Amino acid sequence: MKKLVLLGSTGSIGANTLQLVADFPDRFQVVGLTAGSNNDKLIAQIRRFRPRVAALADEAAADRLRRQCRSRRDLRDLKIEILSGTDGLIRVAASAEADMVVSAIVGSAGLAPTLAAIRARKPIALANKESLVMAGPIVCEEARRQGVAILPVDSEHSAIFQSMAGQRRTDVRRLILTASGGPLLDLPLSKRRTIKPAQALKHPTWRMGNKITIDSATLMNKGLEVIEARWLFDIAPDRIDVVIHRQSIVHSMVEYRDGSVIAQMGIPDMRGPLAYALNYPERLPLALPSLDLTKVKMLTFEAPDLKKFPCLGYAYEAVKTGGTMPAVLNAANEAAVRAYLEGRIGFLAIARVIRETMDGHIPQAAPGLDDVLEADRWGRERALKMIQ
Ligand SMILES: NC(=O)c1ccc[n+]([C@@H]2O[C@H](COP(=O)([O-])OP(=O)(O)OC[C@H]3O[C@@H](n4cnc5c(N)ncnc54)[C@H](OP(=O)(O)O)[C@@H]3O)[C@@H](O)[C@H]2O)c1
Repeated sequence: MKKLVLLGSTGSIGANTLQLVADFPDRFQVVGLTAGSNNDKLIAQIRRFRPRVAALADEAAADRLRRQCRSRRDLRDLKIEILSGTDGLIRVAASAEADMVVSAIVGSAGLAPTLAAIRARKPIALANKESLVMAGPIVCEEARRQGVAILPVDSEHSAIFQSMAGQRRTDVRRLILTASGGPLLDLPLSKRRTIKPAQALKHPTWRMGNKITIDSATLMNKGLEVIEARWLFDIAPDRIDVVIHRQSIVHSMVEYRDGSVIAQMGIPDMRGPLAYALNYPERLPLALPSLDLTKVKMLTFEAPDLKKFPCLGYAYEAVKTGGTMPAVLNAANEAAVRAYLEGRIGFLAIARVIRETMDGHIPQAAPGLDDVLEADRWGRERALKMIQ
C-alpha cells in the first residue's frame, strides 16, 4: 500500500489522482490533501478519502474548513488535522507517513511545498512544472542530494521518460516534445486580439485547469515544458524541439544518435502518465479504451509558427539566458494569464506583458532560492504595473 500526499487535490490533476486511488484501493491510500481556497470541494474529498491531515493556503478558507469538520460528526471522529498557509502546505508535503508526494498545485505556489517534500526525502510525482521552470537547478540538485526520484506526470515528459527506458542517456541526440496546438491553432493573428476566455478555454484534446489551458492556447505551456525537460532530463535547450501534433496521440519522442526515434503513444487521458508515475515501474491495468489507430487514421506533425505563438520563443530565450530569467518569464505569464481570465487584458497582451517584463529584467546568474523568489516577486510586480 503506497501512502500518498496530494498537493492540489481539488484541481484537474488532483481529481484524476483521486480517481486512481478510488480505482486501486489496495494499492494507494491518501494520507494528506491540500488546496488553495476551495474548502467545499476539499471537505467532500476528506469525507471520501479520510486523510490524517489537510491544508488550505487561504487562512479564511481553512477556518471555514475547521468549522465544517467540527460541526459534522463523521468528520469529528476522523480527528483530522487542518493546517493553513504556506507553512501548512509545507507541513503536509513533508508528512512523515507519506511514501510519495503528488505535486499538482498550479503555478509558483507549488515550489515551496515541492522542495519541502524533496527535503523530507519523499519521491515526487511532478505535475507542477512551474517549480522546475522557476528553480530547476535548485530542485534537481536537492533531489540528487537527498536521493529522491522525480517522476514526471506531464504527458510529454512521461512519454520521454518511457521512451528512454533501457536506453543510455549518452545516446540521446534530441527530445521532440509534441503540442496539440491548443484551441486557437488555426485562428489567424488578426482575429486573436478579440478572443474571449471562454473560447480560449475550449481545448480540443485535453480537459485541464484554466491556467494550463490558456498556456496551451498561447503555446507558453510548451515553452514551460521545454524548460521542464531541460532540467528533468539534463539536456541543453537547443537539443529540445517542439512539433505541433493535433491528434495528441504521440505524447513525445526521443531521437538517438543512430537516427532511431522512439515515441510513446496513447489516447489523451492524464490517468495514463499519472498511473505510470504513481506505480513506477509497474504498469497498472487501467480501464481506458485501447488506442485504435485505424480510427485515428492520420498522425500529423507541423512546425510551430513563432509569429503566432511568440511565448514559445520567449521560453527558449529565457532558458538559454538562464539564471533568474525563467522565474521572471513564469511570474509575468502567471500575472498576465490571470488578468486575461479576469477580463482585464486581451489575449495578445499576454505575450506583450511577458516580453516587456523580460526586457526590463537584469538576470542574476546561478541564483539561490531567495534570489529566485525575489525574481518571482519582481516579475509579478512589474507585469502587474504594465497590466494596470
Ligand atoms: N490538468 C492537466 O491535465 C495537467 C497536465 C500536465 C501538467 N499539469 C500541471 O499540473 C499542475 C496543476 O494543474 P491543474 O490543471 O490540475 O490545475 P487546476 O485544475 O487549476 O488545480 C490547481 C490546484 O492547485 C490549488 N492551488 C491554486 N492556487 C494555490 C495556492 N496559491 N496555494 C496552494 N494551492 C493552490 C488549487 O486549489 P483550489 O481549487 O482551492 O483553487 C487546485 O487544487 C499545473 O502546474 C499544470 O501545469 C496539469
